Amino acid sequence: MTKIGVIGCGYWGPNLIRNFRNTSNCEMVIACDMQEDRLNRVRKLFPGLETTQRHEDLLRSDLDAVAIATPVWTHYPLAKTFLEAGKHVFVEKPLTRSSQECEELIQIAKEKGLVLMVGHTFEYTAAVNKIKQIVDSGELGDILYVNSTRVNLGLFQQDINVIWDLAPHDISIIAYVLGKEPISVNAQGVSHFKEGIEDVAMTTLRFENKTIAYIRNSWIDPNKVRSMIFVGSKKMLVYDDTSPNEKIKIYDKGVEQPSYYDNFGEFQFSYRYGDIYIPRIEEHEALSSECGHFVESIQEGTTPRSDGMSGLRVIRIIEAANQSLREEGRAIPVEPISNMETITNGVGSAH
Ligand SMILES: NC(=O)c1ccc[n+]([C@@H]2O[C@H](COP(=O)([O-])OP(=O)(O)OC[C@H]3O[C@@H](n4cnc5c(N)ncnc54)[C@H](O)[C@@H]3O)[C@@H](O)[C@H]2O)c1
Repeated sequence: MTKIGVIGCGYWGPNLIRNFRNTSNCEMVIACDMQEDRLNRVRKLFPGLETTQRHEDLLRSDLDAVAIATPVWTHYPLAKTFLEAGKHVFVEKPLTRSSQECEELIQIAKEKGLVLMVGHTFEYTAAVNKIKQIVDSGELGDILYVNSTRVNLGLFQQDINVIWDLAPHDISIIAYVLGKEPISVNAQGVSHFKEGIEDVAMTTLRFENKTIAYIRNSWIDPNKVRSMIFVGSKKMLVYDDTSPNEKIKIYDKGVEQPSYYDNFGEFQFSYRYGDIYIPRIEEHEALSSECGHFVESIQEGTTPRSDGMSGLRVIRIIEAANQSLREEGRAIPVEPISNMETITNGVGSAH
């Protein structure tokens, strides 16, 4: 039985509590938030659950692990405290506010043989795993272009811009599905409401072999959109995360360049219109898989899918995007994480 505590019971934390409570071989022991009104709500939602306002209370010896769902700037100090105390740590996305902080956490986890996992939730959805399976099978051909849109109205963050808030999801999905890292990143964005906190941004990731990915993030769009398009050399895939039953559609559509043509009419024949089909997805709650995966990694001593390195990969891309924002969209080269030989994520056996 892995005994776990959750720190941060705002918007997201109660979802983690609910899922850890439903995870087998896991005991959800204690919830922590600095604000008493948040704890009141948690006690109403989960009667009998022990609560505290002090995160230090979770350093006690009978807890194996903590999950951190607090604002981004608190991730690093909290995660460091608990790793140093010998606890396995799950941290909500983004892992930290800098790659240096990520590297430090990865190093501590490695030295202590502990699991460090980041909440890249979409890597645990049935839809994203189906997309990965389809891309890996080669059905779409070579991926030429990805277009990701993650926009809504609000929830404005006070301490981070829209790239730090929303793009971790797009970036983690793209890196997971394509299985590769960009070679350069550029971004443009604007702050309309709070000076220095961009509320709209467009980020471009360039990969080797001319694959390109565009990410559009915004807190000021009238509608919530969560969509991605993967254009392959053979077929195209459209992913709409807001659709209840038809999240993925595959278009057997493309443009084939004719060997020659005499007029525009003939050129048009080079468009290929084929079938559109909707693959079946075995739906499940992503957070349930994610929480189960954390507990399983602790108990089996395995490296989680979204480990510290995965968190670092995303942060390095976000840092490059933010550097580009400050330099009016200049392309910032990104060194592949696989070249960083000194860092490997550590895992440990069950406590
Ligand atoms: N995976 C996802 O899809 C997803 C979705 C939403 C939010 N998140 C992430 O979850 C984290 C929290 O976001 P949120 O929207 O719930 O924020 P929030 O502001 O609603 O809640 C954060 C809570 O943490 C508490 N807190 C802060 N410092 C603390 C400390 N030292 N000890 C105890 N409690 C402390 C605050 O009192 C607050 O109640 C962020 O990292 C965010 O990116 C992830």
